[in-house]
Amino acid sequence: MDPVTNPYSPGAGSPPPELAGRDKLREQVRIAITRIRRGNSAKSVLMVGLRGVGKTVLLERMRRDAEESGAYTLRIEAPENRSLPALLAPQLRLVLLRLSRVEAAKNLAQRGLRALAGFAKALKVKYSDLEVGLDFEPEPGLADNGNLENDLTALLKEVGLAARNADTAVVLFIDEIQYLDNDQFAALISALHRCAQSKLPLTVVGAGLPQLRGLAGNAKSYAERLFNFPIIEPLAPAEAELAIVKPAGDEDVDYNPEAVAQILSATRG
Ligand SMILES: Nc1ncnc2c1ncn2[C@@H]1O[C@H](COP(=O)(O)OP(=O)(O)OP(=O)(O)O)[C@@H](O)[C@H]1O
Ligand SMILES: [Mg+2]
Repeated sequence: MDPVTNPYSPGAGSPPPELAGRDKLREQVRIAITRIRRGNSAKSVLMVGLRGVGKTVLLERMRRDAEESGAYTLRIEAPENRSLPALLAPQLRLVLLRLSRVEAAKNLAQRGLRALAGFAKALKVKYSDLEVGLDFEPEPGLADNGNLENDLTALLKEVGLAARNADTAVVLFIDEIQYLDNDQFAALISALHRCAQSKLPLTVVGAGLPQLRGLAGNAKSYAERLFNFPIIEPLAPAEAELAIVKPAGDEDVDYNPEAVAQILSATRG
């Protein structure tokens, strides 16, 4: 194999040359995002699947789909040692700065940036890893009471209001959600719930290991009603075959069928 033209790029989260077999889930997420953007309700999506099944690359593709459709997205990955506020704040800042360039959303986005300043100031004590550039002074009383659940709700509401005025939706793509601390996950769920109640165009598309569903229920009993939990299965044989055969085929290289069969069985799809 010529290492220069080798089309494969195996590895955790590296986008495959051919993203096989995920059209239904992509469509489901596309519909949910379009619905919330129009002010219709749609459940947030938390995809669950085993290690290596393809969650990260699918999440990234969905994010690209969403950006191409005009939604504003951010992406974070919850590692074991960072707090949710620390992960979210810099990304929300970028989204708010983008929104502030849309004339119809400018004032609300600037208010969102003030909320972010209050949020960071109030929560810095508890979450010492929280660092974010501040573009505006906080506004007393706006997302600054020091309680994560309340402040995150207030902040995301401001983001949602600005997104609505910009005629877009903000979508938070979060990988490895199962690593979020229970209280931080609960705060996120609660904030989303409030945004959904206000029909704001803000939603989450997340991914994690199968225990995620139980963790969500433990964090907030109503999580089952707020989220869909589609299961990411291994690829069906024809899809897995396509993922292997097509990138080589594009380089005019063919597999023999025994090799394909062996790859599918070794990787279990
Ligand atoms: N639909 C697909 N078509 C082709 N290749 C894929 C597909 N899904 C995943 N892969 C490939 O499989 C590998 C694992 O994918 P990925 O890292 O997204 O899995 P994951 O579920 O996020 O794993 P983990 O739970 O360890 O984070 C990557 O090399 C990726 O390119
Ligand atoms: Mg992953």
